[in-house]
Amino acid sequence: MLEPPPPPPPPPPRRLVVVSNRLPLVLTRDADGRLVGRPSGGGLVTALLPVLRDRGGVWIGWPGIVDHDDEVKAALVGAAETAGYRLAPVALSAQDEAGFYFGFSNEVLWPLFHDLQSLCNFDPAYWRSYCDANHKYAQVVVAETAADDFIWVHDYHLLPLASELRRAGVTAPVAFFLHTPFPPLDIYLKLPWRFALLRALLDYDLIGFQTLRDQRNFTQCLRALLREVRLTNRAGMAHLPDGRDVRIGAFPIGIDANAFQRQASSPTVQAAVDAMHAELPNRELILGVDRLDYTKGIPLRLEAFRTTLRRHPELQKRITLIQVVVPSRDDIPEYRDLKTRIEQLVGEINGEFTRPGGRWVPIHYIYRALDRLDLIAYYRAARIALVTPLKDGMNLVAKEFCACSVDEDGVLILSEFAGAAAQLQHGALLVNPYDLEGTADAIYRACNMPQSERQARMRVLRRAVSRQDVFRWVNSFLEAAIASDLDAFPLPDDYLPSAEAETAYWQTEFAE
Ligand code: UDP
Ligand code: G6P
Repeated sequence: MLEPPPPPPPPPPRRLVVVSNRLPLVLTRDADGRLVGRPSGGGLVTALLPVLRDRGGVWIGWPGIVDHDDEVKAALVGAAETAGYRLAPVALSAQDEAGFYFGFSNEVLWPLFHDLQSLCNFDPAYWRSYCDANHKYAQVVVAETAADDFIWVHDYHLLPLASELRRAGVTAPVAFFLHTPFPPLDIYLKLPWRFALLRALLDYDLIGFQTLRDQRNFTQCLRALLREVRLTNRAGMAHLPDGRDVRIGAFPIGIDANAFQRQASSPTVQAAVDAMHAELPNRELILGVDRLDYTKGIPLRLEAFRTTLRRHPELQKRITLIQVVVPSRDDIPEYRDLKTRIEQLVGEINGEFTRPGGRWVPIHYIYRALDRLDLIAYYRAARIALVTPLKDGMNLVAKEFCACSVDEDGVLILSEFAGAAAQLQHGALLVNPYDLEGTADAIYRACNMPQSERQARMRVLRRAVSRQDVFRWVNSFLEAAIASDLDAFPLPDDYLPSAEAETAYWQTEFAE
């Protein structure tokens, strides 16, 4: 009998082209007009950096400086030489920055997607600027890519990019991942451009969300607004009238857990931790780390901390909250107001509890970006992390704290409304950030938790964070993008909490 012919070799992996609003490097000019670079902030960059370092490819985005020139291009070529992947800049004008970045992206989509529609400024000029800027991104993508590349677009700034690319004749697969939540139908409906944006999203081949809840919100919007779209495979596939199929899935993003763990165990970090403990002896450190953003729930967190000190005076002098706030989007009035509110509250609370001559100050407030090793030292030195966003796509700070808790005795207090809660609900103390007394109780419980319980919980958390790391996230996303067999999709149970597991927590709450 003849041997069956060998199976054809798998196609070579496509080159990865990542497109996001920002590059991982922000360029500015100093007083003498010289270009200076600093790392970009936020979870998107933290997550994607190790992916690009690992796989190589091209990263297309805005270097944070307006009207740039050849000098900027040369600086990025230089920066990319050591990075192992290419950096390709998109040139945005000051008008784009105002209308596209600060305007439509961060005064319309950001608050709307975090369920805060009362903070939206639906200025029609912003929408036009958003479309124009997406066209500019598309031009750079067209110039930088070949037909066999895999184009992966990230986040709410670039929802219509696939439409622009299709109009420009791009036929390569184009996938999209949303790092923020996707809002429920009733909130999405407020958007004046609700049909245009949904239709634009359907020009992608794969659309990924952080959680099943976001995926369900999106498919509910599709069902309600675009009747011509047929959803199948448990809403994991949208069939369009022109015969195209779009895959839809939930892919909770992770971190490079090994790298965080390794750095947290390094002698440099150990020395920094020892120095912190020597500065603040006999003190339980509680840590908050956030970009300056109203979604992060910082004022309510400070109020909950005050409630803890009032309800449990025995904790005074025993606990200190270190609140790190990283400057962000400071041209937007809400962000400036938030900074004032936070500083006012820190002043009020410190004023209420500090005693003359005493060495205890309840809140240490840091307003700047920290170097990675300093941040890791704070994660490691803290007994408790207080991660209480009002709403968050994932929240990588929660995962980073667990990866860095190498002594396995930290306690994570986590908002129910962070995407991370779906994966970390078993080890964390979950709180409703609007419930000041409930959050204060969780702080009290964490301060008095026996070591055995702390360790048991942290082991569960660390296992989840290292199993579901960023490399697994990228592999599962790329597999879903190329899989011809939809049964291989969605992901294995231990990666993605099932719809039942994701909602089990809420059902228990409601049953009480
Ligand atoms: N981060 C940082 N420097 C700091 C504080 C935070 O680089 O001084 C990073 C942190 O490591 C994390 C990211 O900022 O990766 C914040 O991501 P998260 O998902 O928690 O929130 P986002 O800012 O993206 O909304
Ligand atoms: C969030 C968004 C990212 C953004 C980051 C920092 O993580 O999902 O897309 O890059 O915040 O915000 P910025 O406006 O400084 O880019």
